[in-house]
Amino acid sequence: MDFIGSLGLQQREGVPSCPQEGLPCPSNSSELVQECLQQFKVTGAQLRQIQISLLDSMEQALKGQASPASAVRMLPTYVGSTPHGTEQGDFVVLELGATGASLRVLWVTLMGIEGHKMEPRSQEFVIPQEVMLGPGQQLFDFAARCLSEFLDALPVGNQGLQLGFSFSFPCHQTGLDKSTLISWTKGFRCSGVEGQDVVQLLRDAIQRQGTYSIDVVAVVNDTVGTMMGCEPGVGPCEVGLVVDTGTNACYMEEARHVAVLDEDRGRVCISVEWGSFSDDGALGPVLTIFDRTLDHESLNLGAQRFEKMIGGLYLGELVRLVLAHLAQCGVLFGGYTSPALLRQGGILLEHVAEIEDPSAGAARVHAILQDLGLNPSASDAEFVQHVCAAVCTRAAQLCAAALAAVLSRLQHSREQQTLQIAVATGGRVFERHPRFLSILQETVMLLAPECDVSFIPSVDGGGQGVAMVTAVAARLAAHRCLLEETLAPFRLTREQLAAVQAQMREAMAKGLQGEASSLRMLPTYVRDTPDGSERGDFLALDLGGTNFRVLLVHVATGGVQITSQIYSIPECVAQGSGQQLFDHIVDCIVDFQEKQGLSGQSLPLGFTFSFPCTQLGLDQGILLNWTKGFNASDCEGQDVVCLLREAIRRRQAVELNVVAIVNDTVGTMMSCGYEDPHCEVGLIVGTGTNACYMEELRNVASVAGDSGHMCINMEWGAFGDDGSLSMLSTRFDASVDQASINPGKQRFEKMISGMYLGEIVRHTLLHLTSLGVLFRGQQTQRLQTRDIFKTKFLSEIESDSLALRQVRAILEDLGLSLTSDDALMVLEVCQAVSQRAAQLCGAGVAAVVEKIRENRGLEELTVSVGVDGTLYKLHPHFSSLVAATVRELAPRCVVTFLQSEDGSGKGAALVTAVACRLAQMPCV
Ligand code: G6P
Ligand code: BGC
Ligand code: BGC
Repeated sequence: MDFIGSLGLQQREGVPSCPQEGLPCPSNSSELVQECLQQFKVTGAQLRQIQISLLDSMEQALKGQASPASAVRMLPTYVGSTPHGTEQGDFVVLELGATGASLRVLWVTLMGIEGHKMEPRSQEFVIPQEVMLGPGQQLFDFAARCLSEFLDALPVGNQGLQLGFSFSFPCHQTGLDKSTLISWTKGFRCSGVEGQDVVQLLRDAIQRQGTYSIDVVAVVNDTVGTMMGCEPGVGPCEVGLVVDTGTNACYMEEARHVAVLDEDRGRVCISVEWGSFSDDGALGPVLTIFDRTLDHESLNLGAQRFEKMIGGLYLGELVRLVLAHLAQCGVLFGGYTSPALLRQGGILLEHVAEIEDPSAGAARVHAILQDLGLNPSASDAEFVQHVCAAVCTRAAQLCAAALAAVLSRLQHSREQQTLQIAVATGGRVFERHPRFLSILQETVMLLAPECDVSFIPSVDGGGQGVAMVTAVAARLAAHRCLLEETLAPFRLTREQLAAVQAQMREAMAKGLQGEASSLRMLPTYVRDTPDGSERGDFLALDLGGTNFRVLLVHVATGGVQITSQIYSIPECVAQGSGQQLFDHIVDCIVDFQEKQGLSGQSLPLGFTFSFPCTQLGLDQGILLNWTKGFNASDCEGQDVVCLLREAIRRRQAVELNVVAIVNDTVGTMMSCGYEDPHCEVGLIVGTGTNACYMEELRNVASVAGDSGHMCINMEWGAFGDDGSLSMLSTRFDASVDQASINPGKQRFEKMISGMYLGEIVRHTLLHLTSLGVLFRGQQTQRLQTRDIFKTKFLSEIESDSLALRQVRAILEDLGLSLTSDDALMVLEVCQAVSQRAAQLCGAGVAAVVEKIRENRGLEELTVSVGVDGTLYKLHPHFSSLVAATVRELAPRCVVTFLQSEDGSGKGAALVTAVACRLAQMPCV
């Protein structure tokens, strides 16, 4: 189809054809020229309509409700801050797509705030047409070859190079170095690239080239490079505007307004991709027949309609179509048309810019038209200038309407009536076209009068800006490496967990045999789980967890009723004298009895005492050592039931019948066992951690008898106190242990339980801050304060919803100012620490249930585990991670985890009830 044909016109004999069907070729030429020029006139109302419709499309897209028809894409770019000038280093920049059929390689040296500015070295390479339209691999190999050629000329040796990739096409970015091409624009149409990660394609090509070790650390849109390349002194620029072969803009949007991002603070740079704006309602009236023809002939029919009215790749073409039309109507050049005039792309931006240049003068216009094979008259040349002016003025006005929409969006987004803003401009239309910027400025002032806009030409077309982003990306990538390095010791492999399971089995066997072992495997004299026949009222005490509770437990046919009261154990009492502690306990009991009207009654009492005790009987428990921050004197080595009875005696007039002392794991097992007879394991993951289970009596060397069962309190908190866990211990565990009141003790507990996880995270954050990875390396007094980072923060921070917002709120309360990258890293630290804790706990449970299965020589064991403890109950992922680890390490055990509702106080009462039943004692 020849050119005339492509205009959808028939060549009629003798009568000049006119593209607009049905439009007669008016007799006088100037009328026809005026009629053509008129088509490019855009009224203020039309510009405002475009501004409004584009703004609406932007806000729809931000909410993720873009209607494909008129959509501007509004693509997040992962650039969260404008440069703060501290960036330093040498960077290679590869620019592809900004300037059409050429790519540019730059070597940029950033000198940081203090340093003077170094002119970047650069080289431009023309991209052959067949490469722009051929297979994608060919294009990226071409780019890699250009890179090598450029670097061959520089003394780079074999140092590792960091590259910023300026890729000026619409892309979905999922990270600073991950970007998927949505669609080609501007004369590019390589196959096998749309839908692909262009960073990976470039990395593969550089790999294939194999000449330099280049790490592609960032990919940015040219508008972002332009914005970031704003001279620090004059900026910061918060809008980047490019009009080169194509056109587009980016700006700093409030992150909370970008639906696809889980972010509520700070700003993020959005690439508007306004080239695809095509709201017929707004654009229809300003689209000319020449625009439709141009689109019709383009590589991407129906796409980038807005860009095709503004971009430098199209301005020359629009002028050519108008001139060709006027020539064929015999109005210009005496009706003569040259091959250049009829050839697509025959008139370039450079031609138009020169023709428009008031300093060009008629002679220059003549020369340009003669170069195009035309022989213009003086009036022809003048007409041509008018056509160029009309096409470019419209382009600048349309661009202004779009920019005004962005400015209105900034006003909305920042809830500001007036706006003072710096816009970085880049692209050859700005550089070469004499009037484009001034028309743009005037029109913006008309459409956005309340905005005070300064236009800052970007330095070297954004190369510097791309280097800035690359420097930020390089810094973040380096930080990520340091973060991974720091967290790697927390990431346990299946082999490591299986080793912990095996070591625990070994320590269990040794402990049961009374051999040296970090697991004391303490007999609890609970031989049976409840059978439901228990009855009566019991008092219970629950000491050792977050709260000290006194409970009245009524066990009846219909079930168990509990009345309880929480009392605090001040640190000075927990770490004071034993007498003081037990007197405080009795005071609470008396207070409870008075409140419950039980004064003077001597109910059987079960005492949940959650510390390691050697039990000689149900009501005898010798405290081996305090844990969990308790350190009352004169208690270790003592029978705590005696200490309690002495305190009761000291308090005359109080009758209490202490029947049983149980560990909270036992109380929890019994409490859950009352509902589920399969419950033969008790697990606590709270302030401390521990487990108990029903062991075959024959395996308990320290207790006589070969039949029946004995509940064993493993005291697994002390697992590894013999150094058997040192291969897993990190420098942060060591810091926490050294700072604890029982260094070297409870090593397993200190990797798992609530009293310590917050501290492990805090020490890790301090380390990362000292590396400059977090909080810009600013150590704050608050974060150096012990126990300031509560373990409950982990549960809040790791909650699936609102993660980053929680992190911010929590850390700002700690007086830390943080970036979104900081927030993300803190979240990852919490996840690593809690995941390790849950997996270690899972390895422990797997060891226990496998022991029971093997004890009973079963192929498969079905067992339930009664669990309690704040960390297990409140952390969003802890319980599922424990269960997953148990499934992994004990596949032949079907394990059900039962969260204890009433705590172990009920369990203590049930143990007491069983004891009473067995002892046939009266239970009032
Ligand atoms: C429950 C039990 C206590 C146990 C505690 C452990 O409250 O009733 O006996 O000590 O859980 O969890 P915590 O998180 O409070 O340390
Ligand atoms: C692309 C944009 C680019 C603009 C200016 C458009 O065709 O879609 O990504 O920013 O050209 O180069
Ligand atoms: C104690 C155990 C207790 C566990 C859970 C540990 O510190 O030694 O006896 O079961 O904490 O509370």
